[in-house]
Amino acid sequence: MTNDLSTNDSIEISRRKMMGLVVGVINLGLIGSIVGPMVGFATAPLTVKRKQRWVELMDESMIQPGEVKEVNYSMRVVDGYHEIEQKYTVYLRRGEEDVICIDPACTHLGCRVKFQSEQHRFVCPCHGGVFDDQGNNKSGPPPKPLERHPVKIEAGKIWISREV
Ligand code: FES
Repeated sequence: MTNDLSTNDSIEISRRKMMGLVVGVINLGLIGSIVGPMVGFATAPLTVKRKQRWVELMDESMIQPGEVKEVNYSMRVVDGYHEIEQKYTVYLRRGEEDVICIDPACTHLGCRVKFQSEQHRFVCPCHGGVFDDQGNNKSGPPPKPLERHPVKIEAGKIWISREV
């Protein structure tokens, strides 16, 4: 008689353990289905692979040695689930031997710098940062030179490389 009671108790305990295990697995599945997408959304910008793409800007003959020219162009980029036409501005500076491409985003807080042709310098309208005509920081708060984009000249055309 005592033996039967003990057998029933052990069956009851293992049934409880089994139910606890099933409920635990269901809870883990529910938590995973909520937290998983949130983690994926939050880390998506870190996992997106950016590509370099060459963009034709203009004829080489349109810029003379010593000249700095503002150039506007557009390219198709992926924005979320859409592909849109995005407009950009860069400055090209032609030296004796080469052409450099300067991004106008100030290295302090990202305002767009403007080129002052008489002073041969870029000036940031936000906090007065000053860069020389090659984008090297000269005074004010910007901590480093303006970013440059790779340039190539092929068949008389100037191309720049952008990360998209
Ligand atoms: S954003 Fe250009 S100097 Fe501050």
